[in-house]
Amino acid sequence: MTGQVRGVQLARLLGQWHALPGRRRSPDYAALAGTVRGLLADGRLPLGVRLPAERELAEALRISRTTVTAAYRQLRETGHLASRRGAGSWTMLPGNHRVASTGLWTPLDDREMLDLGVAALAAPPQLLTAARAAVEDLPRYLGGAGYHPTGIIELREAVADAYAARGLPTSADQIMVTSGTQHALDLVLRLALAPGGSVLVESPTYPNALAALAGRRARITTHGLAADGWEPDLLLGSLRQTRPKLAYLIPEFQNPTGHLMPAALRERVVAAAHAVGTDLVIDESFVDLPLDGTELPPPVGVYDRHSRVISIGGMSKPYWGGLRIGWVRASAPQVQRLAAVRVGVDMASPVLDQLVAVHLLADADAIVAERRVQLAVQRDALLGALAQRLPDWRVTVPRGGVTLWAELDGPVSSALARAAEEVGVRLAPGPRFGLDGTMERFLRLPFTLPAADLVEAVGRIAAVRYDLDRTGRQRWREPAVIA
Ligand SMILES: Cc1ncc(COP(=O)(O)O)c(C=O)c1O
Repeated sequence: MTGQVRGVQLARLLGQWHALPGRRRSPDYAALAGTVRGLLADGRLPLGVRLPAERELAEALRISRTTVTAAYRQLRETGHLASRRGAGSWTMLPGNHRVASTGLWTPLDDREMLDLGVAALAAPPQLLTAARAAVEDLPRYLGGAGYHPTGIIELREAVADAYAARGLPTSADQIMVTSGTQHALDLVLRLALAPGGSVLVESPTYPNALAALAGRRARITTHGLAADGWEPDLLLGSLRQTRPKLAYLIPEFQNPTGHLMPAALRERVVAAAHAVGTDLVIDESFVDLPLDGTELPPPVGVYDRHSRVISIGGMSKPYWGGLRIGWVRASAPQVQRLAAVRVGVDMASPVLDQLVAVHLLADADAIVAERRVQLAVQRDALLGALAQRLPDWRVTVPRGGVTLWAELDGPVSSALARAAEEVGVRLAPGPRFGLDGTMERFLRLPFTLPAADLVEAVGRIAAVRYDLDRTGRQRWREPAVIA
């Protein structure tokens, strides 16, 4: 149990609870319970918190206590609330769900749910072969203690070679293997950012990076991405004015927008960062996934002469998230310092998983080529379905990566996510990618599910979008300017 939410706080979170889609004719208690379920589903109301007493919530919402009693009863029946007489009621999830580390919940066996909240592909068929080959390799390591804080040498060499192939000469002692890119980011932040340090990020950006920054209590400033990507003068101006300790950028097929940073801007960003003493953390999660034959600009590290750039990347997007293999590319002394930090965190990554990664990377060209074809087909299916079913939404066709960032026809992203969840589609609404609850006009849509599932999901989203309208379009109008 993590605490208690007071009546006024819950009332604020609930917002326009009686006006939610599809509940026009449902009684107030059902609308209230449904809104609480929605808040739990999108992670705004944490699990294990104590809800206010019925009387307190009734007062905060200015409704009758009977309505709250009935709503709580329904939440207990659906498995969203546990109550003990005299002690109170705690939020929970029905039996077949668990909570991810982000606070988001994911289904264990809910096969009907189309999950567009996660932007990652299922494993490629080559994974099993690689895993079997890795087991065969394992005896070579069993004679040692198995702790390799910077990673096993063969994987570090394979990763270093991949950088060199992209035009960035790299030696194995510049690579540290981590348990995923997220872990890489966390370690880099521990090394390079004192608690409370200042950081510049793109807006929108990858939510779990924001979570890692929150863990360091970072002071965050943002560079707002335009419809066609970074605004060079504004980005460089922000660096010069705010002189952050660190900037976290995703130059290749940015998550969520899909933008690709041009070479010229890469060079200018590195120069500006060096001039003001900012370290650049460059997240290359999607670098292997250009689509439509898109040419990649040189890696950001190419422009770095002063060890200002720390690159992070991993296997999750081109290969499989379940592998939990990522890495850091930095200077050799920085890698040693990272290894020292890591000893206080998790010591080292699993040897067997690293061996699986070695085998996958040995077959990288073939595997990644298949992934690109698959992603292009799925992206086009998604775009086609959106054009047909939600023609008012504006999307820029991403030239790589796994996500597109749709501009909706109103600031309805969170309401839409709540409504979609009830028809078996999980969405990550726009505000998840921002800092301050804005971005309600946007929705990230990954194209990592099979094409048929994407088309089905868009159909369901379109249906609930239509329901939002039927509950009264005026609710979603922009506020009138008073001047
Ligand atoms: C930009 C970005 N960085 C990091 C991650 C986390 O990757 P990993 O699974 O390798 O930890 C993701 C996953 O979605 C991502 O999109």
